[in-house]
Amino acid sequence: MSFKILGTGSCLPQRVVSNEELSEFLDTSDEWITQRVGITERRVCTTETTTDIAVGAAKGALEMSGTTPDELDMILCATVSADHAAPSLACSVQAMLGATCPAMDINAACSGFIYMLEAAAGFFAIGYKRILVIGAERLTRVVDWTDRSTAVIFADGAGAMVLGPGKSYISSKLVAKGGDTVLSIPSFEGQSPFYKNKSLKPYVHMNGQEVFKFAVNAMCTDLADVIEAAGLTIEDIAWIVPHQANARIIDAAVRKFNIQPERCLKNIETTGNTSAASVAILADELCRSGKLKDGDYIAMAAFGAGLTSAACVIRWEE
Ligand code: ACO
Repeated sequence: MSFKILGTGSCLPQRVVSNEELSEFLDTSDEWITQRVGITERRVCTTETTTDIAVGAAKGALEMSGTTPDELDMILCATVSADHAAPSLACSVQAMLGATCPAMDINAACSGFIYMLEAAAGFFAIGYKRILVIGAERLTRVVDWTDRSTAVIFADGAGAMVLGPGKSYISSKLVAKGGDTVLSIPSFEGQSPFYKNKSLKPYVHMNGQEVFKFAVNAMCTDLADVIEAAGLTIEDIAWIVPHQANARIIDAAVRKFNIQPERCLKNIETTGNTSAASVAILADELCRSGKLKDGDYIAMAAFGAGLTSAACVIRWEE
């Protein structure tokens, strides 16, 4: 089953943090971060909650689509950094928007937004008419600020889409390779006097090189598969919207597919890695750039903890 994108939105917190500012308290440098990751600055929440930025993104998507909150049939949020374990981020967003529809979260880490598009397609198959999908993260909450290998990468932000019935969602692929040794964010363990296992601190733990290898392979394989499944070739794809984890991973995909770099979109330089929000923020930037033409094919790809990866092809319909 498929859907059509009716509107997009995004919201970044106000505070900009440069590499120089991080270098004041971490043993790192602007040169290392720029060259190895491709980030020069990122946005971090100071007073904004994950719900605040999710609602900011949602309002943009609702406005573009001409939808009011009471017209929504479902709210789906992809996140690994909701404000609460319960209620879900989606329920908090529903309350703040004044919507009355069902709402729930999905966790597939950085692949979460594309996993959620697949879930939305399933809801359209059983008659849903208007679905708000949001990827929102306050990753600065789950980063170990003494760990230079992760603190320089992750950031905060939210992206959203309002979806309606249609035929734009053409092909998709979801992958999961379960295991927590390469990349994980352990939950707060609690204070049970009965629980005996020792656990890691509740922050991002990442073997960057292993994730890097998985990411390059997953992104290239998944993109090739969804493009073929759509009956298209790479030349037919107007825009690739890749997860913004590391500029070098995106550049590897550009080399692999031998495409013009400007067709493989990047905003990591100023947004950092916003996990489940990443492709949604980039898709909103594309929609608002004026570059999209009716009938353009967009290929989205993401990868992250799980390990998970996901990709899809969407035809833009005005
Ligand atoms: N500043 C300066 N030096 C650093 C920093 C830093 N911020 N971080 C690491 N280094 C050092 C290391 O200590 C190491 O030093 P050594 O040689 O003296 O031991 C050296 O730089 C090289 O370290 P590597 O880990 O080999 O660096 P690499 O080039 O692999 O870059 C990075 C690390 C950026 C993490 C990279 O591996 C990467 O991007 N991996 C993928 C991450 C990713 O995609 N995550 C997405 C999923 S996130 C999610 O799902 C929640």
